[in-house]
Amino acid sequence: MSSEAVDYDAQVAAVREAFEREFERFARFQGGAGTEGLSLGEAETLLRELGELRTRHTAKKSALAQLMKLIGRVPAEERAAFGQRVQALNNEVATKLDEAQAALDNRIGQLKVERERVDVTLPGRRPRRGHLHPITLLRQRIEDIFVSMGYAVEDGPEVETDFYNFTALNIPELHPARSPQDTFYTTDGLSLRSQTSTVQIHAMQKRRPPLRVVAPGRVFRRDTPDATHNPMFFQVEGLLVDRGINMGHLKGTLSEFVRRLFGPDTRTRFRPSYFPFTEPSMEADYSCFKCGGAGCRLCKGSGWIELGGSGMVHPNVLKAVNIDPEEFSGFAFGLGIDRMCGLMYELDDIRLLFENDLRFLEQF
Ligand code: DAH
Repeated sequence: MSSEAVDYDAQVAAVREAFEREFERFARFQGGAGTEGLSLGEAETLLRELGELRTRHTAKKSALAQLMKLIGRVPAEERAAFGQRVQALNNEVATKLDEAQAALDNRIGQLKVERERVDVTLPGRRPRRGHLHPITLLRQRIEDIFVSMGYAVEDGPEVETDFYNFTALNIPELHPARSPQDTFYTTDGLSLRSQTSTVQIHAMQKRRPPLRVVAPGRVFRRDTPDATHNPMFFQVEGLLVDRGINMGHLKGTLSEFVRRLFGPDTRTRFRPSYFPFTEPSMEADYSCFKCGGAGCRLCKGSGWIELGGSGMVHPNVLKAVNIDPEEFSGFAFGLGIDRMCGLMYELDDIRLLFENDLRFLEQF
């Protein structure tokens, strides 16, 4: 060995020592042990610090990297031995770092699983389920009855032109129903339909006879709300047009309808009436479902409850949609759904149906 001989072993030892000194605090994590008491925060901090330590001791400019580069410059006779030592140190450092890192990773994984664990034995929170509105429930029962009698369910617009709301329904130019005191108008002369009878016109234009439709929906009238009135309410319209239809068909249909809705013993009664779009016209009543006709508070002592208006479709209405009244005839009826709903549930105030108060709605 020459006098300026470099002590290569000492260099390797110095690098090892520097690493050991810093690694000491992680030494207890070797072999996957020593992490039991660590909190998630502590383990994460240690892992980050270990990463920094790895960079300092193994990156390109680290002392260890310098040693690796030195191998090529060491005199040939010492190169093999030196190279082996450096390599051994390199492996040792890598193993230690990897083992400590694995232990910390493991602990962190465990703690995260722990933190996110769900106690499947806890009783669940029952989702609050809504349900259909009483008017919808009744509307669907009515639809079902008519569908079972061969009717189709029709829909129509709530905003209408004069033609559909009045003219085609044979309502004369100066009829009070057209007055803005009764009907809501938009500034450009359209109106909110005041009756579902408008759908008769749409249905006949669209389907042509023979046809059978019911059309439930909202209607609007300028009424001051009180216990029995609301400016928006629901009706269901019925229309049948075919060859040879007469009043007998109408009476039979309405009688069968109330029997299916209120029970087989329900009776009907028909009174002459007037509507511009039917001739002849009549009002239908049915025997009170509460007292069976004896008279009670619900039917105001009369034994009868009003069902709605009806009649044979006026020839002018058929003509308005180019149906020949010589060939076809039909009947129509219009029933109030909310009024029926109010009676069935014995509501003192019809406005309850529109206030959306959960204390009320939850009772259905
Ligand atoms: N549209 C009428 C109203 O709102 C009810 C009505 C009466 C409908 C007779 C009809 C009918 O179809 O034939 O008061």
